[in-house]
Amino acid sequence: MLEIIQKSYLLQHWEFLVLFMTIGYFVVRLTRKEKKNSNKRSNDDEMIARDYRIEDDHGENEADITPALEEIKMIPYRGVQVKLAGGADEFYNLMNDRRSVRKFSNKAVDMEVIKKCIHAAGTSPSGAHTEPWTFCVVKSDEMKAQIREIVESEEYTNYTQRMSKQWTTDLEPLRTTYIKEYLTEAPYIIVVFKQVYGTRSDGGRKAHYYNEISCAISVGILLCALQAAGLSSLTTTPLNCGPALRTLLNRPINEKLLVLLPVGYSTDDCEVPSLQRKSIEEIMEVY
Ligand SMILES: Cc1cc2nc3c(=O)[nH]c(=O)nc-3n(C[C@H](O)[C@H](O)[C@H](O)COP(=O)(O)O)c2cc1C
Repeated sequence: MLEIIQKSYLLQHWEFLVLFMTIGYFVVRLTRKEKKNSNKRSNDDEMIARDYRIEDDHGENEADITPALEEIKMIPYRGVQVKLAGGADEFYNLMNDRRSVRKFSNKAVDMEVIKKCIHAAGTSPSGAHTEPWTFCVVKSDEMKAQIREIVESEEYTNYTQRMSKQWTTDLEPLRTTYIKEYLTEAPYIIVVFKQVYGTRSDGGRKAHYYNEISCAISVGILLCALQAAGLSSLTTTPLNCGPALRTLLNRPINEKLLVLLPVGYSTDDCEVPSLQRKSIEEIMEVY
């Protein structure tokens, strides 16, 4: 019997046995990983679905469910009426000129211009037309100083304790620190809040589907509008400052901080990091 085993092909060529076992191990691992990923994907979808399965006063009776929007009639759409003279080329040139600016001049900016830019941001598409955004414009020097105090104190902890070594290392070339002079130098700070839910006309909660995506698109439009008005801005997402800023600005509980943008004219001696943008070939795939 022992002889048979000793003569067995696999045991005589033990390296094949090791090879088969290694391949088997990786096949099992890959299969498990793929299963885990597909479970994670369905969990993410389930979480989104659960978020929007809002408890309301109507209970489980589907007959009682009414649309959050009032009755809407359909109207003819005439197609795009307003066009830039230089079309998409002109728009690309305008946007390619945009840079995040961290040094603002104290040159005054007309509030009407800011208002118009925010009006443009409000044309953004939004999930189920929920328009889940609030743009708070801070012009008071005192309030800007308070915002700076909140942000610098949190950012000090972020830079020294909360952020990983990799994160702070990634930020080094951009030369950002916890000191935020721009928050008191810029004539305005626009604080954008996403409304994670709203209120129905009957007083119940209104689901704000995909509120973060909707708000991010509206901020994109705001950046374009500010650029078109010759103004500069800096998109910032100060970590852990949401609750304190919401309290300072007296915003309701359904609003969560999305971004904070100092806005104004850049100084004459303003410098920006020399960054390369990806080419069109790198960011676009045609099918
Ligand atoms: C979502 C988001 C968050 C950002 N957060 C910060 C921030 O907290 N502080 C900062 O100085 N810049 C911040 N930036 C600006 C980026 O550093 C900047 O956009 C990037 O370096 C590219 O430079 P550019 O905007 O001049 O093209 C942020 C930008 C985005 C889009």
